[in-house]
Order: sequence, then C-alpha cells, then structure tokens
Amino acid sequence: MGDLDELLRDQAAYYRAVAGEYDRAYESEDLRSLNELAEGLPIHGDVLELACGTGQWTRMLAARGHRVTAVDAAPEMLAIARERVAGLDVEFVQADLFTWRPPRQFDTVFFAFWLSHVPPAQLAAFWRLVEGALRPGGRACFVDDGPGQQAAEEVLAGQAAPAVRRRLEDGSAHRIVKTFADPDRLTQTLEGLGWSARVRPVRTKLVVGSAAVI
Ligand SMILES: C[S@@+](CC[C@H](N)C(=O)[O-])C[C@H]1O[C@@H](n2cnc3c(N)ncnc32)[C@H](O)[C@@H]1O
Repeated sequence: MGDLDELLRDQAAYYRAVAGEYDRAYESEDLRSLNELAEGLPIHGDVLELACGTGQWTRMLAARGHRVTAVDAAPEMLAIARERVAGLDVEFVQADLFTWRPPRQFDTVFFAFWLSHVPPAQLAAFWRLVEGALRPGGRACFVDDGPGQQAAEEVLAGQAAPAVRRRLEDGSAHRIVKTFADPDRLTQTLEGLGWSARVRPVRTKLVVGSAAVI
C-alpha cells in the first residue's frame, strides 16, 4: 500500500505539469458537447466551481451570466483559465481542496472531472466541504467519468487509493487518484452521506449528477 499524501502530491504535480497540454488532450468534441449537458443541470445563481482547470467550464458558466468563484490548486491551470474568461465575472482562488474552506456560501457548487480524483477515504470530508459551501436550497452539480472510461486508463494496483498512470507528451509518467463511479452506487453513497442525489450515465463513459442536502 502506498502513502495517500504522496499520491495526492503526485496528482497535484501531474496537473501542474499537464496544464499546457491539457486542452489539446481533453477539449474533445465530446467535452464541447457537454456544455449542452450542463443545461440539464440545476445550475443557478452564484456558482462555486471546484477544480476549474483551464476554465473550459468556467467560461461557459460565466458566459451564461453566473457570477463564478473558481478554485484550483495549479497556478499553471489558473493562468490559462484567467485568459480564457477575460472580461467575464470570475474570481479565481488558488487552493488545495483537501484543506481549503469556502469563505462564503453559494447557490451552486459545480465540479467537472474532479469527484473521480477524490480518494474514497476523503469523500465524506469532500461532501462536507460542498455542504458548507451551499446556501439553503443550493445544489451540487457534477460531471465525471463513469465505469465505461476505465478500459481507456492504465489502472495501477497496490496504491493507497484507486489510481491510474497518466503520461505527458514528453513521455514522463505520473500517478493520479481515479475512481470510476457507478451512477447507482454513487447515488447510494451520497444518500448515506445525507444527500438526495440524482446521478445518471451519459454516452456510455460519463456520469452527470446533482445533489441537495436532505
Ligand atoms: C481533470 S482536471 C479537471 C479540470 C476541469 N474541471 C475540466 O473539467 O476541464 C482536475 C483539476 O483538479 C486540480 N487539482 C488537482 N489536485 C487538486 C487539489 N488538491 N486541490 C485543488 N485542485 C486540484 C488540477 O489542477 C486540475 O485542474
């Protein structure tokens, strides 16, 4: 069993290193069309976006008129996101989501491709963070990889949490946490944590969900 803190440090370092090539790898036709999927989510009012990355979703949210506070640990990601949303109403925060506490409350907490990077041992604490960030009546909305994505990943055994290996264009290899949420199981897990959740599979590889505190 590896060390969880070390795995999380590797994950954070990977995302700092991949920032410059992230959009080439992930701004696929699929991801662009996910903007349409977000229209089916109950995103409203002031939005807190967790793990905003290069700001693909941040821009979409702000362009729809939401005031967005976007958090990410990687300064390299945030620099790209800042350029992408120039002129829109977005505040960026550089912080580690495993220790950060939201300074105020929001109507929506949104996270895309982040939940799968939260180790199972940190899941309850993560959802407490989300709960603390929501105003009464607020909702969490998320998009992520589902079980269908697992075959495309290099899954690692013997890690402190479910993990995969990712490679940069220079060939270097990095470990990150990666869970592949089954929609029904995730719904049950969230109910066990005190949330009323709706999680559904989308296009075989993805899950889209929303949740409110019971
Ligand atoms: C898969 S990317 C998702 C980015 C964006 N949401 C998207 O869908 O394109 C994961 C993001 O999590 C960020 N991240 C990794 N570890 C973090 C941590 N401990 N705290 C905050 N952000 C972190 C990375 O910098 C990266 O931008």
